[in-house]
Amino acid sequence: MSVLLEPVRLIDADFLHDPYPGYRALREAGPLHWSEEFFDGAWVLTRHADVEAALRDPRLSAQRTGGWVMEAAEGERAQLRPLQRLFARAMLFLDPPDHQRLRQIMQPAFRPDRLAALQSELDLMVAQLIDAVEDAPGAEFDFMERIARPLPARVIARLMGLEPEREADCMAWSEDLAAFIGAARPTPEQARTAQSSLIEMAAYFEQELLPRRRREPGDDIVSRLLEAERQGQIGAGAELLAQCAMLLFAGYETTRNLLGNGMLTLMRQRDQWQILCEQPERVPSAVRELLRYDSPVQWTGRRVAADFELHGQTLRRGELLIALIGSANRDPARHEQPERFDVRRANPGALSFGSGPHICIGAALTQIEAQTLLGALVRRCPDWTLAGSPRRNGNPVYRGLEVLPLRTQG
Ligand code: HEM
Repeated sequence: MSVLLEPVRLIDADFLHDPYPGYRALREAGPLHWSEEFFDGAWVLTRHADVEAALRDPRLSAQRTGGWVMEAAEGERAQLRPLQRLFARAMLFLDPPDHQRLRQIMQPAFRPDRLAALQSELDLMVAQLIDAVEDAPGAEFDFMERIARPLPARVIARLMGLEPEREADCMAWSEDLAAFIGAARPTPEQARTAQSSLIEMAAYFEQELLPRRRREPGDDIVSRLLEAERQGQIGAGAELLAQCAMLLFAGYETTRNLLGNGMLTLMRQRDQWQILCEQPERVPSAVRELLRYDSPVQWTGRRVAADFELHGQTLRRGELLIALIGSANRDPARHEQPERFDVRRANPGALSFGSGPHICIGAALTQIEAQTLLGALVRRCPDWTLAGSPRRNGNPVYRGLEVLPLRTQG
């Protein structure tokens, strides 16, 4: 190992509550650090320009799931292998040529014209969720339970063609996987829970959903993957299953946290909420600013594929690199007054969806969801207020809330 730097510590209870002072100190201390907190140690990048360049750098590989198993205690390795083997085949963790092959299969499902066709269904889902809460004037409710969880769950279920009665199971499995994948160093308990959820999820896909979609194809992504399987473009079994698990987890977890983090920011910064209530046409740029200000994905990782020099250090083949998206989004070299949340900010230009070949395939979808919800809220519910302290989910990567108590107008 080539480390000369003093290792830094980042993740503690203060960080989980508010990571931004820690990022700031780290950014000011330098662009590149070594930390022992991630698996068996990792390089950590703090600045916008470096994070963006790293995500576009072909010397860095997306294949990084091996660390999940290497870090585990001897007795748990065998248990974790199926989880690691499956996720290692998901597009998010693959390099060319497999990455492009899979991305090309899925990309058309996220094209703007396909998403535009969803708009009227989305309007209806949002209206129903708000109606149900507004039924009780002056009442306290949990925004996460009543709106931020069900909305992305319904959208991803619709997109993937999941049966509505299995929606709750799918989301519970996805939350268990997020707790494991989002941990800097997963606990044995997180690993066991994720493993058993994955087994249940796989059984559901293999025994129920895939056979049904083979018999009755629809305009959903699972049917599209099955068609690709018939044409020999995607491997039957594990490869197909890995993309399903990845989509479910990536589509639900992140959007839920965008909605929760976003609503909390707006409820706390009332002047900004007021601007949106008076000028709803600002909602799309407000969503982009919410993504920058409190990103639902705080970092991503890569493995060094070939030795190279960066900021005076040699990064060696096989070492892990963590690109701190949450820190990059508050870099003063890229954003004026980065600690300020401003719905009028022109072109927030954040890295919340990543950059380069793996840039989020669901970015447009998630923004449409958030814009539809926020647009309806500022028009219909300008008087909603915070009704208590929110509870964080404790996940350092997939930063979000468990509970967000709000009150409707009395
Ligand atoms: C607020 C919402 C979202 C955020 C912040 C987010 C963030 C990200 C980020 C940072 C990446 C790149 C990771 C990397 O380079 O290592 C990514 C990739 C990905 N996202 Fe999202 N995402 C969101 C919503 C969604 C949705 C709604 C879907 C699908 C329905 C989705 C599916 C994916 C997939 C499949 C990839 C892998 C793309 C590839 O490897 O080519 N995401 N996302």
